[in-house]
Amino acid sequence: MSTEARGCITIRNAAVVFDAEGGGIEAVRGVSMDVEPGQFVSLIGPSGCGKSTLLNMVAGFVHPSDGKVLVDGEPIRGPGSDRGVVFQQYSLFPWLSVRKNVEFGLKMRGVSAADREPAARTLLGLAGLLAFENHYPDQLSGGMKQRVGIVRALATNPQVLLMDEPFGALDSQTRVVMQEILTNMWQQFRISVLFITHDIEEAIFLSDKIYVMTARPGRIKAEITVPLARPRTAEMTSSLPFMDMVHRLKALIREESLAAMGTELREGGLTGFSMPVGPEGVSNVL
Ligand SMILES: Nc1ncnc2c1ncn2[C@@H]1O[C@H](COP(=O)(O)OP(=O)(O)OP(=O)(O)O)[C@@H](O)[C@H]1O
Ligand SMILES: [Mg+2]
Repeated sequence: MSTEARGCITIRNAAVVFDAEGGGIEAVRGVSMDVEPGQFVSLIGPSGCGKSTLLNMVAGFVHPSDGKVLVDGEPIRGPGSDRGVVFQQYSLFPWLSVRKNVEFGLKMRGVSAADREPAARTLLGLAGLLAFENHYPDQLSGGMKQRVGIVRALATNPQVLLMDEPFGALDSQTRVVMQEILTNMWQQFRISVLFITHDIEEAIFLSDKIYVMTARPGRIKAEITVPLARPRTAEMTSSLPFMDMVHRLKALIREESLAAMGTELREGGLTGFSMPVGPEGVSNVL
């Protein structure tokens, strides 16, 4: 493990248009973003605004229709082991034990058969999973499966880790523990992370910087630096600067979520919906 921070993501004026019946779908337009080596950057925005599209572009699964996407100055030509990806759905091999799942990542990286087992055990130890090395994925809780997924993504020794709502399927207590584990691992590996979440508190707690996207076609609405010191602690989440950021980000997202839901909501507000309702509430309408 090197002590130099790694992984610089540069996105310049990127646009993505998907082919669709009746014309193209413009998913993102004119997006420029920077993730510095070792930085933790989150992407938030209303559903369908193009967050996954952007992340998939960096992963090499989606090609930009316009603009540039570079990792460490090199244009992305497709998926590669320099970029680890973790999705919300657990993507472990169910027929392999926890350790063999991690060893798979090491094998992809060309680690010799003899070195794989000790390396996998070290990685699992960092995620508190050593006691489960011989378990199979369906014997694990959701949080544990996702931890194995992160460890497996890290096993290829990537420059950057791309995470698309990795904790979206977990309950809120498990999420908090996962956030702390991820922060610890990120500090040990010193790689950059691009992280998508719908959870504003999660984005603030984890990130150095947050990009807020507009409704589709997704553009960058705001770039916000998180002014909290590291290491982050649970107490910080009730501090004034933290609460201020939550309010600010909620207001930005709300505007865009209303825009994404269409003009009816925007014009009527959330109480009106332009539906006539008498003093008895909806009972006289239905
Ligand atoms: N392969 C595809 N082909 C056609 N349209 C697509 C494709 N992938 C995404 N889209 C469209 O592009 C837009 C952006 O989708 P994307 O999945 O990037 O949004 P998102 O911000 O990740 O949403 P969510 O928060 O719901 O995950 C959506 O309108 C979606 O329907
Ligand atoms: Mg998405």
